Amino acid sequence: MTDKRGIHTPNRRTLLKGASAMAAFAALGRFPTPAIAQGAPLRVGFMLPYSGTYTKLGKFIDDAFRLYVEQKGGRLGGRNVEFVQVDDESEPAKATDNMNRLVSREKVDVVVGTVHSGVAMAMAKVARDTNSMLIIPNAGANAATGPMCAPNIWRTSFSNWQPGFPMGKVMYDAGHRNVMTITWRYAAGQEMVDAFKENFTKAGGKIVEELYLPFPQVEFQPLITQIATKKPDAVFSFFAGGGAVKFVKDYAAAGLKSSIPLYGTGFLTDGTLQAQGADAEGIKTTLHYADDLDNPANKAFLAAFKKKTGQDGDVYAVQGYDAAALLNIGLSAVGGDMAARDKMIAAMRAAKIDSPRGPISFSTAHNVVQNIYLREVKGGLNRYVSIAHAALADPARGCKLSS
Ligand code: PHB
Repeated sequence: MTDKRGIHTPNRRTLLKGASAMAAFAALGRFPTPAIAQGAPLRVGFMLPYSGTYTKLGKFIDDAFRLYVEQKGGRLGGRNVEFVQVDDESEPAKATDNMNRLVSREKVDVVVGTVHSGVAMAMAKVARDTNSMLIIPNAGANAATGPMCAPNIWRTSFSNWQPGFPMGKVMYDAGHRNVMTITWRYAAGQEMVDAFKENFTKAGGKIVEELYLPFPQVEFQPLITQIATKKPDAVFSFFAGGGAVKFVKDYAAAGLKSSIPLYGTGFLTDGTLQAQGADAEGIKTTLHYADDLDNPANKAFLAAFKKKTGQDGDVYAVQGYDAAALLNIGLSAVGGDMAARDKMIAAMRAAKIDSPRGPISFSTAHNVVQNIYLREVKGGLNRYVSIAHAALADPARGCKLSS
């Protein structure tokens, strides 16, 4: 049947036939796939920033995901893998179209993306609407594993709450009482500042002022002048990628580096140290990774990533690598048959990964449970100082999934 708008609608009989078939498939715990599908390559859609301030972040996620696949002989769950790439430009306004293109036109089996929280929220909505498998290898938008959580939505990185929250205690314990915050005005910056504030004010600290500028602007000067005028005890910040490089350099150039200590979530100094040079030395941050974590998985990963790309791995590369590891665990449990969705998801829920960041597992909301480390930049590396919060799980406020 075709309705007035020319849209195909099934009649009652087809619906009923469909309904009983669905019940049968559901009873079997799986849905049918064309005979060819299992022999066919697994189509992985990368929706990542390949341009703009987050370019390097996207590239490292992509490189490290491919590294994992190469280490498995070009296969995940026994299936050859082929890739489709979409440059999302960290542009939320284009995100729905880009995601639909991967899901509906390119018919990928799984989407891996993205870096920017605003883009990720649009992707999560499409993933929910179309029941597509989505693995988020960076974007921390709390809602993706909060109110938007779903069986088919996974994250191998962090929620914005996770690296921000422990810093509240770290800065209070360092003796800071009056703190200013500065970030881009969008979900990631806002949520990291909120998480920091939650813990810092609970301890008794006071927020003097919150400074914001639009993403991805880098005209930091007027805001840095306000910090110099107000003279807080310290500053908490979130910037990343190209923007973080410039902010750290501008902060030092303004002469504030030694008088008003700069802190942040670890994105401020991750993947950026070569470009920031001496201006980043001594900066303390909290994150779920440190360059010198002394575990065999980290050493092997950094060596392999260097061999493949000629570059030093960072937190983004680790998250991309773990996205492939998680997918491999799910697919291996079903012999590569993505149609056995329930079984695949059960295996992913039980996943324990020996990640370069240390051991990780997944919460009921499908976010990573992980250590948050205090790091300090020394000799061009984000060096481990201590565990700021062990095995920290996001509170998953608003998530209705149950275990
Ligand atoms: C985000 O938008 O969620 C985001 C982007 C870059 C980061 C961290 C979080 O480094």
